[in-house]
Amino acid sequence: MESSRLLFVLVFSISLCFYEQAHFRVLGQIYLAPSPAPQGAMPSLNDNSSKSATIFNVLSFGAVGDGITDDTQALKMAWDAACQSELAILLVPKHFTFMVQSMIFTGPCESGVVFMIDGTLMPPDGPNSWPKSNSRRQWLVFYRVNGMSMQGAGLIDGRGEKWWNLPCKPHKGANGTTLPGPCDSPVAMRFFMSSNLTVKGLKVRNSPQFHFRFDNCRDVLIDSLYIKAPSLSPNTDGIHIENSNNVKIYNSVVSNGDDCVSIGAGTFNVDINNITCGPSHGISIGSLGIRNSRACVSNITVTDSVIKHSDNGVRIKTWQGGYGTVSRVTFNNIHMDTVRNPIMIDQYYCQTKGCINQTSAVLISDVLYANIKGTYDVRSPPMHLACSDTVPCTNLTLSGVELLPAQGYSIADPFCWNAYGDLKTLTIPPLFCLLEGIPPMHLPRNEVDQC
Ligand SMILES: *[C@@H]1O[C@H](CO)[C@@H](O)[C@H](O)[C@H]1NC(C)=O
Ligand SMILES: *[C@@H]1O[C@H](CO)[C@@H](O)[C@H](O)[C@H]1NC(C)=O
Ligand SMILES: *[C@@H]1O[C@H](CO)[C@@H](O)[C@H](O)[C@H]1NC(C)=O
Ligand SMILES: *[C@@H]1O[C@H](CO)[C@@H](O)[C@H](O)[C@H]1NC(C)=O
Ligand SMILES: *[C@@H]1O[C@H](CO)[C@@H](O)[C@H](O)[C@H]1NC(C)=O
Ligand SMILES: *[C@@H]1O[C@H](CO)[C@@H](O)[C@H](O)[C@H]1NC(C)=O
Ligand SMILES: *[C@@H]1O[C@H](CO)[C@@H](O)[C@H](O)[C@H]1NC(C)=O
Repeated sequence: MESSRLLFVLVFSISLCFYEQAHFRVLGQIYLAPSPAPQGAMPSLNDNSSKSATIFNVLSFGAVGDGITDDTQALKMAWDAACQSELAILLVPKHFTFMVQSMIFTGPCESGVVFMIDGTLMPPDGPNSWPKSNSRRQWLVFYRVNGMSMQGAGLIDGRGEKWWNLPCKPHKGANGTTLPGPCDSPVAMRFFMSSNLTVKGLKVRNSPQFHFRFDNCRDVLIDSLYIKAPSLSPNTDGIHIENSNNVKIYNSVVSNGDDCVSIGAGTFNVDINNITCGPSHGISIGSLGIRNSRACVSNITVTDSVIKHSDNGVRIKTWQGGYGTVSRVTFNNIHMDTVRNPIMIDQYYCQTKGCINQTSAVLISDVLYANIKGTYDVRSPPMHLACSDTVPCTNLTLSGVELLPAQGYSIADPFCWNAYGDLKTLTIPPLFCLLEGIPPMHLPRNEVDQC
């Protein structure tokens, strides 16, 4: 028997089995010949293929979708079935809310699964409802999944509030204290060691921690996401990327309590276009070089975007004592609206008191700031380029930078420390502190880790 037939028989018997077992509503059907698109599928997926997609609806696997029943097992079974099938659509149908525990969707799959979220997915409500045996660092994890497209008009609701208010979170203890101890909170959606992913059109809100984290991934397209959490929710980064390459983030809107997009070590070839951030902490490369680690980040482009009512605009932050390089970074055509530090390099990043001065640092070079216009919150200077004492920033280029105070007329002077580069046009306010050309005592090549 040829393998596709075998697969057909297998999947068909599985669906039959579910159908007979408990009279579950079977929406999952098999189409071998050209036929009308099954309910809920996008016709365009199937137009030209001889076989149509199979829909694996979580309801057919016993999910209840009342927001109270634990639907973890049903979603797991639906994933396993979809993953083993060719042209599978895993459907989370609209008008239902599925409560699922922390789980790992493991690949590789037979072919690219379409994970269609039209309903709502949410975790148990807060740390007290989180099973002790489950990881508190992540909720939904995709591991070794290739070619998946996650999309739909649904909602991923992280129900983060009880996590944000844990007494170990900053100022959440009695009388505004911060209690010591481990304070892990789950990332809502983690993609790990996966490739050729599309995540599109979803609404994601109130993650206990980062909303999305991509690590060790490649070829990722993120499009039209809508991410929302309160501005005082701790660590709720919108999209975090690390050790990943070829990542595109387009047409998305993020408001949250931490970085809108954060880019960690080992990340190359990131293209961010048409993203609106705010309130948030802006778009951040870093923090890099923590505990004397090596960080390499290069070819990062952010264009045609808006950052509003945020603590930072475009920021590169490194700890003292790191190694490696951040290079070939372009920020072009960014509109700032009442942003506290619109342009920021901070090589003295320190979250604890009394970080000691160290001589090594992650080198920052070849950064272009072009057409960055708008207003800044006058509590901080609009440009803050604090480079390492021992490893100067090199080849910073500014062109068409015009930043005006959001309130009043008093202009805060830009700040620079050991920052070298060129002004292609005069900036507003003028950046007299940028040092021209290349640093006189350029470190020998072998002293600077070139990545
Ligand atoms: C189907 O084929 C037609 C003509 O070959 C092409 O124009 C169209 O883009 C194809 N659609 C898909 C979904 O591949
Ligand atoms: C990427 O995934 C899509 C399905 O989502 C598939 O059609 C395509 O062939 C994959 N590309 C690569 C390079 O794996
Ligand atoms: C909080 O502050 C109040 C009033 O100052 C004090 O009576 C109380 O002991 C403090 N609680 C703790 C846990 O520090
Ligand atoms: C930019 O993204 C927004 C939000 O997704 C979208 O409405 C708008 O059409 C996009 N603009 C362009 C030029 O694509
Ligand atoms: C830089 O990244 C873009 C994707 O954002 C990619 O198309 C381009 O090839 C990369 N450039 C180099 C030199 O790798
Ligand atoms: C670290 O270096 C900075 C800048 O040179 C200096 O202002 C500061 O006092 C130093 N701190 C310590 C702890 O040595
Ligand atoms: C300076 O950086 C720009 C990108 O901002 C790059 O195109 C140029 O080649 C760099 N110059 C040198 C001398 O490396």
